[in-house]
Amino acid sequence: MKKRIGVLLSGRGSNFEALAESVAAGRIPNAEIAIVISNREGAPGIDRAKSRSISTRVIPSKGLEREAYDRQVAAVLDENKVDLVCLAGYMRLLSPYFVAKFPNRILNIHPSLLPSFPGLEAQRQALEYGVKFAGCTVHFVDENLDAGPIIVQAVVPVMDDDTEATLSERILKEEHRIYSEAVRIVLEGKCKIVGRRVLKS
Ligand code: GRF
Repeated sequence: MKKRIGVLLSGRGSNFEALAESVAAGRIPNAEIAIVISNREGAPGIDRAKSRSISTRVIPSKGLEREAYDRQVAAVLDENKVDLVCLAGYMRLLSPYFVAKFPNRILNIHPSLLPSFPGLEAQRQALEYGVKFAGCTVHFVDENLDAGPIIVQAVVPVMDDDTEATLSERILKEEHRIYSEAVRIVLEGKCKIVGRRVLKS
């Protein structure tokens, strides 16, 4: 049986697309993207999914209390028998209810070397801080923002003439590579969580 991935996104959807490409190319074997859910109407990621004939659902989050919203999303993930939830530019904190419902089965990608620069505009934070190396992180999701055990990271250099746009572009290329790698590792059951550490098993 193929493992079923559910993707949650709010915007552009390039990380979703990278995952879809990897599934199609066999870099994430024995898996399929079962459903793509957006909390925002008109998220370009939804159009990208449609053009790949992947099922989509828009569940607007505006005005809803966090857990009430998350219950709706969880119900759709259940309907679609999802084994793994991948956050891909999903601009919402998850409720304790949601995190408990999918224990160690929710992944997120963040454009910094966590625990540096969590939250919004991570690439800008890195530039302004003056770090010489930046990067990205795929981690298991817990109730805290951009926290949870780290599965894969990638490092990129920061150049003197970098702008937020050029640094973001360099990081994004690595995001697309390591998200697929992390999903493969998790779906193949090739890791175990020991404290905060994710170790090969
Ligand atoms: C990425 O930089 C990701 O790391 C962050 O949000 C951005 C989403 O981009 N969480 P996209 O929608 O996947 O193109």
